[in-house]
Amino acid sequence: MTTPTIKLAPSILAADFARLGEQVREAEAAGADRIHVDVMDGHFVPNLSMGPAVVKSLRPVTRLPLEVHLMIEAPDRYAEPFIKAGGDRVIVHAELGDAARRAFAAIKRLGAKAGVVINPETPLAAAEEYLPNVDLLLIMTVHPGFGGQAFIRETLEKVREARALLDRVKPEMDLEVDGGIEPETAWEAVGAGARVLVAGSAVFGAREGVAAAMERLRTAAEAAR
Ligand code: DX5
Ligand code: ZN
Repeated sequence: MTTPTIKLAPSILAADFARLGEQVREAEAAGADRIHVDVMDGHFVPNLSMGPAVVKSLRPVTRLPLEVHLMIEAPDRYAEPFIKAGGDRVIVHAELGDAARRAFAAIKRLGAKAGVVINPETPLAAAEEYLPNVDLLLIMTVHPGFGGQAFIRETLEKVREARALLDRVKPEMDLEVDGGIEPETAWEAVGAGARVLVAGSAVFGAREGVAAAMERLRTAAEAAR
């Protein structure tokens, strides 16, 4: 078998919160590369999710990196508590401008990793100034706020554009997509150049179970390479 080149980042937003630790362990056993933690504040997105206490509880449960996707208006205020709780990488929305810049400065000061994320309607140019200071570029393939939405195909063009840009300026950087990823859209996203797939419903909502669902995603994704 060839070495897998696609990384899977299951999003616990779709997990059964009553069995969260168990679900994370299942994802780890099934070969997840990292765990994606979706944080929402009811302002930047119209939904609420989880805070640093969840990251703190998960930290001793898994050896996988915990990546914290901050869908909040004040990432500069909350990056630190998430890192102190055990978050390995904090992903910040470029749309926030100065608050994003302050958040990246705080993340760097605390020695954690950083990622930059852009919404479906945000041009790639909005993320460019942050690229030298981050090791991950995340392209939202749905409007953030809820799991279980349909993949927005128009974002594939931006994934292609991002792939071309990174190949030129920072080829080792992770290019990740988030939202509506199931086997078919995984294949499309990887074909466009994505190498890390966030998936919530397709992993934790699958009737076939976490391991089988991840295997199907991986097979579809690797077929596009
Ligand atoms: C959306 C979140 C996603 C979400 C993806 O606001 O950022 O990470 O959990 O869920 P699915 O895979 O169900 O689209
Ligand atoms: Zn997310």
